Amino acid sequence: MRSCVQVSMQLNGRRSGQAGTIREEDMKRVFAAALMTAATMFSGASLGQDAYPRKPITILVPAAAGGPSDTVARLVAEAMRADLGQPVLIENVGGAGGSLGTGRVAQASPDGYTLLLYHIGVSTFGALYPDLRYKPAEAFDSVGLVTEVPMTLVGRKNLPAGDLAALFKWLKAEGAGATFGTAGVGAVSDLCGRLLSDATGIKLTVVPYQGTGPAMNDLLGSQIDLMCDQTTNTTNQIKAGAIKPYAVTTRERIAILPNVPTLAESGVKDFEISAWHAIWAPKGTPEPIRQKLSGSLQKALKDAKVIERFAALGTVPVSAEMATPAALDKRFQSEIARWSKILANASTK
Ligand code: MLT
Repeated sequence: MRSCVQVSMQLNGRRSGQAGTIREEDMKRVFAAALMTAATMFSGASLGQDAYPRKPITILVPAAAGGPSDTVARLVAEAMRADLGQPVLIENVGGAGGSLGTGRVAQASPDGYTLLLYHIGVSTFGALYPDLRYKPAEAFDSVGLVTEVPMTLVGRKNLPAGDLAALFKWLKAEGAGATFGTAGVGAVSDLCGRLLSDATGIKLTVVPYQGTGPAMNDLLGSQIDLMCDQTTNTTNQIKAGAIKPYAVTTRERIAILPNVPTLAESGVKDFEISAWHAIWAPKGTPEPIRQKLSGSLQKALKDAKVIERFAALGTVPVSAEMATPAALDKRFQSEIARWSKILANASTK
């Protein structure tokens, strides 16, 4: 293949050394070669996009290891590694509801080697953290949606309330004394608590953690009273009888917990929240790389082990159409608009 330099020399050589006109077909050949070079130069090839990935990829999860988002990330990463032919590593950076780790990816280089896996929370950070050094709505390019995890309202094993009605009675009697574990402002465990307080008037004392993984440890130890957390983190504890399930946050009951009522059917009208998870890349990450990642994500979500593990934890992978940049773009922007309305009067304590 000819480089730029060689093409120009050929032109000059003719012009400078030899008499007579340059034949038309020569000109065509020179142009064709120049075109080829330019095309190759600006095609993915020279930017290494077609050889992507050349080294391990890091998926940053902005919540503590062992929690629900980490669980989803590790399952998907394992399946994507097989397809991409490079290790897909998980890095956990918890804190501030996930806005800290999310900021790390916003500032990472847009080369496809640093990605963010998180959830609905990212669509609230702009409203809840007005002084962030990045604009969540503009700082990322989409790769695709991953799964939509239902949530459960759960209590410590020895909480003196056998069902939701009794829980609400106990909470009213406790006043603001009941402690509610979350992963910080803007985390979905926090958003669920806000919606619950708004819908029921119940006051809760929020106890923030680096993720609901560590919060669950304290619930298991009866150090806190309640959490609203994803089934990927609560199902096994509920089945083991280690925590009390009071309700699920989806419109319909969920197959994995058939005896647990919905908040909506228990009188908290229209209550609904679930943790849609997605993968984003830093703004400017080339489209071909994101399409490649989306393709790999789609394959991962069809992986039998991923489907089986997700099902055992009460969730399902999204469809291939949803595991695309276009679908996530649409969902993300609509959620940012929806939550900015909901949170307009939200307290950020
Ligand atoms: C986690 O993985 O800890 C959760 O997704 C945090 C949260 O409640 O949003």
